[in-house]
Amino acid sequence: MEKRIVIVGPSSQILGIKIAQELGVESLNTESKKFPDGENYIRINIENETLIAGKEVIIVQSTGPSASADQNGRLMELFMMIDSVKRMGAKKIIVVVPYIAYARQDKIFRPGESQFGHAIIYIINYFGIDEFYAVDVHAPIMLNECSCKAINIDSMKLLADYVKSKGAKDIVVVSPDKGAIERSMAFAKHFGENIPVELLEKERDVKTGEIDMSGKLNLKDKDVVIADDIIATGGTMATAIKIAKESGARKVFAVATHALLLGQAKFRIIKAGADEIIGTDSIDNEASKVSLAKIIADYIK
Ligand code: R5P
Repeated sequence: MEKRIVIVGPSSQILGIKIAQELGVESLNTESKKFPDGENYIRINIENETLIAGKEVIIVQSTGPSASADQNGRLMELFMMIDSVKRMGAKKIIVVVPYIAYARQDKIFRPGESQFGHAIIYIINYFGIDEFYAVDVHAPIMLNECSCKAINIDSMKLLADYVKSKGAKDIVVVSPDKGAIERSMAFAKHFGENIPVELLEKERDVKTGEIDMSGKLNLKDKDVVIADDIIATGGTMATAIKIAKESGARKVFAVATHALLLGQAKFRIIKAGADEIIGTDSIDNEASKVSLAKIIADYIK
């Protein structure tokens, strides 16, 4: 009998099944809903609980918001799935959360706040899992709090390969803020040696969330790749694109591992002058051009 099984969480239906296919193992989906009082319900689609007992169980559930559920619901579903496979006697529990909600709440910006990104990890620790995989975590240091093996998978090569496949040439990578500079430098290396990286300065008002961005860039006749870990409202990306276009950029690729694309983000980014918005299937939407399935499966193997 097969020793491994993938539980495909409701937020990662395509990625979850693809990981199972890459691993060559069985998969189970779930049935989920909200009760009238707002509580979450999830059930792994299984008629016989002995199917889980003694198995190595891989749960795949990203925790980004979507039209059908917010990140709080996705987190609750994740915790409930871990709880149920534990109760059913899984021998080993591997949890894959490509996008970790609340990861941007990793620091105290104003007195009285919660460092909730860390609290998510403490809750996962409580369940006593065996392995944890996430992708391009906003503050990778968070994973040091994991009490099990924890890996932050780097999707940059996959994203760079996609941009190259679109025929980008004379590339300059633009980092939208200081926090993204290391990532942008690592990203640039995937396009070749000596690919320039230009830096924009971004200040975010911690009370209003408004951003102020500046920078003098020389991008005349260059194809520009702006790389961030997350596109949420699109404010950061759209502002960076506008500056890149004003600085002479030819094509602009808006790249993010986790393209949440909330509200008017797509409109803002394309209107600012981007040729394409490129994300991974950590978030299942129209920007998921790059699949993480193989790289995640390779780590699990
Ligand atoms: C912030 O530090 C992140 O790396 C992103 O730049 C930010 O989350 C993007 O948010 P938005 O799309 O709302 O500007």
